[in-house]
Amino acid sequence: MAVELETERLLLRPWRETDLEPFAELCADSEVMRYFPAVLSREESKALIERAVMKTRDDGFCFQPVEEKASGRFLGFVGLSRPVWDLPFTPCVEIGWRLARTAWGQGFASEAARTWLRFGYETLGLAEIVSFTAVQNTPSQAVMRRIGMRRDEADDFDHPQIGEGHPLRPHVLYRLSRTDWMRSLAAPG
Ligand SMILES: CC(C)(COP(=O)(O)OP(=O)(O)OC[C@H]1O[C@@H](n2cnc3c(N)ncnc32)[C@H](O)[C@@H]1OP(=O)(O)O)[C@@H](O)C(=O)NCCC(=O)NCCS
Repeated sequence: MAVELETERLLLRPWRETDLEPFAELCADSEVMRYFPAVLSREESKALIERAVMKTRDDGFCFQPVEEKASGRFLGFVGLSRPVWDLPFTPCVEIGWRLARTAWGQGFASEAARTWLRFGYETLGLAEIVSFTAVQNTPSQAVMRRIGMRRDEADDFDHPQIGEGHPLRPHVLYRLSRTDWMRSLAAPG
């Protein structure tokens, strides 16, 4: 069963067939996909949704749609996922996000991510959640820091799916333990 969560402004809901159109559109946007090796075709976006639905069946969670409550608009996805590649820090659970350009700069990614963190620590009982991205992807790293994650440069790694010499190959890893998350909730301000 897919997870259904709610934040002040957002619904974090299961995938629907009608999500394909707006999702394929945002994955075909070169600005949204700037820090990925390529934009996605409609078929690739469809396959990504299908994989997310299958992983939800297997793991109980995966990247899921973000819908703006006020407008009913599909904004993109945020969620938790077990990476399928062999990376220096796997097995692990990562948190990730991809929103349409029109949804940037409004705090939506951080708002959804905070609720997914709570789900990960409180409902799944995870001890740690990580996030990783290309070194150049500063907007994504800003979300990581905003939700309390921290980078240790000793964890930096080259993504094995990206060819040697490609500028997007060097990646950073951010981590947040349940203990630090609980501490951050208790901290004033
Ligand atoms: C990464 C990504 C989700 C970040 O989106 P974002 O909108 O910058 O992040 P947030 O949701 O945390 O929003 C924060 C911004 O909203 C602003 N904001 C406006 N209203 C706000 C509100 N009510 N509450 C909180 N923040 C608000 C903040 O001031 C901040 O602006 P700033 O960046 O100018 O400082 C987005 O750039 C994206 O989808 N990129 C493409 C996909 C991608 O690279 N994904 C990551 C791959 S690893």
